Amino acid sequence: MTTKPKVTLVTCQALPNLFPGEEGLLDELASRGCDPQIKVWNDPDVDWADAGMVVVRSVSDYAQDRPAFLEWTRQLQRVQNSKDVLNWNTDKHYLKELAAMGLPTIPTNWLEPSQKLTKHQIHTRFPAFGEFVVKPAVSSGVRDIGRYTTVDICQRQAAMRQVQGLLGEGRSVMLQRYVEEIDLHGEISLVFFNGLVSHAVEKRSALHPASVTNPEMHEAVVTAEAADSVAWTWGEQIRRVLHDYVRARLGHDELFLFNRVDLVPDGKGSFLVMEVSLVDADLYLGSTPGALGNFADAISSRAHW
Ligand SMILES: Nc1ncnc2c1ncn2[C@@H]1O[C@H](COP(=O)(O)OP(=O)(O)O)[C@@H](O)[C@H]1O
Ligand SMILES: [Mg+2]
Repeated sequence: MTTKPKVTLVTCQALPNLFPGEEGLLDELASRGCDPQIKVWNDPDVDWADAGMVVVRSVSDYAQDRPAFLEWTRQLQRVQNSKDVLNWNTDKHYLKELAAMGLPTIPTNWLEPSQKLTKHQIHTRFPAFGEFVVKPAVSSGVRDIGRYTTVDICQRQAAMRQVQGLLGEGRSVMLQRYVEEIDLHGEISLVFFNGLVSHAVEKRSALHPASVTNPEMHEAVVTAEAADSVAWTWGEQIRRVLHDYVRARLGHDELFLFNRVDLVPDGKGSFLVMEVSLVDADLYLGSTPGALGNFADAISSRAHW
């Protein structure tokens, strides 16, 4: 008799059943001959030596203690995505490196705690006109992101307080123009499993003017999207840069179990990458028929490998 391969899907305390739409994964995996379970990454009672293949899922609280999260990954024997990916993709500085390799990212002004910037120096880094966004480099689940306008002195002051608050906590800050195209064209998420196209969704803009996102807020409004061939072609371009990056880091390529690429089309035939999500990516498995099955196939083919 062969034993069934164990698969541990990892979540956080606040999402005991994974992301909405993912609940069916246990049944889908069981029907593919796996022995699946769900565990919380920082639950001290879990025996990770006996977890089988670990699949990182709804760990949306990792940004509150990234060092503890990375420490947790070190003990795992087999984890998807891999430990190196979990390391770099939990800090949005990776966008800087991917931009240097040719990825069209949102132009960003990076403010580092080590720079010890004065209030005046921070002010000079705010854009001169239009709306702008303040977000921590280590963040997830649309938390702690502020949207402000430059013309209103009160909003500039609020942005300053947010920036100084984050830097004071030792957190790196990203300043970006508010990409207005998102209001017109939405943000498209392209989802790949084991390197294959699975599905796409469109998300509406998550940021309200003159406000910082509510820490309890979870996901943007999502609708299934029949991404056109242009969007998938962009996805392939992005994947090429990503894999160049992985090869440059590791000396060899590596297939991601899951990969979600978020981009904003500019309406003129080009796009900007918002983020590449390889850790706590909501994969919107409830959005599109077949998405849940595609993911279960991808996990199970690895578990049986
Ligand atoms: N520069 C920006 N312009 C417009 N919207 C933005 C910008 N940055 C972030 N957002 C909005 O905030 C959401 C979350 O930002 P993101 O960088 O993806 O961080 P998270 O890791 O929290 O998802 C995006 O999906 C988008 O709706
Ligand atoms: Mg995002």
